[in-house]
Amino acid sequence: MTKVVAITGASNGMGFAAAELFAKQGWIVYGGARRVEKIPTAEHIHALKLDVTDHAANQAFIEAIFRKEKRIDVLINNAGYGEYGPVEDIPLEHARRQFETNFFGAADLTQLVLPIMRAQKSGRIINISSIGGDVYMPLGAYYHATKAALQHWSDSLDIEIAPFGVRSIVVQPGGTQSAWSEIALGHARENLKPDSVYTTSVDKVSALLMANESAVSASSEDLAKVFYKAATDRHPKRRYFHALSDRAMVWLARSCPRVFKKVFVTVLNHAAKKK
Ligand SMILES: NC(=O)c1ccc[n+]([C@@H]2O[C@H](COP(=O)([O-])OP(=O)(O)OC[C@H]3O[C@@H](n4cnc5c(N)ncnc54)[C@H](OP(=O)(O)O)[C@@H]3O)[C@@H](O)[C@H]2O)c1
Repeated sequence: MTKVVAITGASNGMGFAAAELFAKQGWIVYGGARRVEKIPTAEHIHALKLDVTDHAANQAFIEAIFRKEKRIDVLINNAGYGEYGPVEDIPLEHARRQFETNFFGAADLTQLVLPIMRAQKSGRIINISSIGGDVYMPLGAYYHATKAALQHWSDSLDIEIAPFGVRSIVVQPGGTQSAWSEIALGHARENLKPDSVYTTSVDKVSALLMANESAVSASSEDLAKVFYKAATDRHPKRRYFHALSDRAMVWLARSCPRVFKKVFVTVLNHAAKKK
């Protein structure tokens, strides 16, 4: 039986690459995004307009897939962005928008898809978090909060739904080439209050993210392969990483928080000096 995957945020970056990869592997792919015209076009890829912060749109997305295919094997909650900016300056309305997209969008789609997956006695929810669900940096407070929330939510959900043959698992990408950094840094600047005392922090984090983007990032195609593995492993793991260095960073932040903070601040200052 041909498998069906629903991927949110399929108009760019990892979601775009994943839509192409799953289709190449013979899956029926439904990609959702606000810029529906940017979702890849290929046989077996169906592009649907979707804003994950809109419940009616989420409902229409899941219903359209189920009406046509009568099943949904995998939901990839990938849509997300970084509402960067200093905690003191970010309007809380922007922080709420961050949660609506990165966390509640995934939660809403999951509630909609679970009755289908339970009825078919199989299914997988793949939640695209970040190493930033465990590690953190200045200006990313609300982003990291959404990803940490997504991870704990996924772990609780996994225990609830495993008896029905359905699993909820997490992928934690590290720095990956996509539009993510540019969008996050755009928000960091927009969210600065006039004459903000945090302008230097924004410059430092910009230098770090830009250096990271050009030097150590994985490609979106690399991450698409990890999404595929998470979707197809016979016995899925609780967490998936692309690189050993990503896993090591998470380990360091959780096991040796003081060392992590020291190393991070040193790297941040070094990137700012090199700029
Ligand atoms: N790139 C990295 O370094 C990195 C690292 C760790 C984790 N991540 C996570 O990986 C995921 C994919 O990011 P990416 O790097 O591929 O970024 P990207 O190139 O900016 O792509 C983000 C995708 O999310 C979609 N999106 C954003 N808001 C949406 C909304 N309200 N409704 C529907 N779709 C929405 C965008 O589509 P539209 O704008 O067309 O709606 C776009 O297709 C995100 O969850 C991100 O937080 C990224």
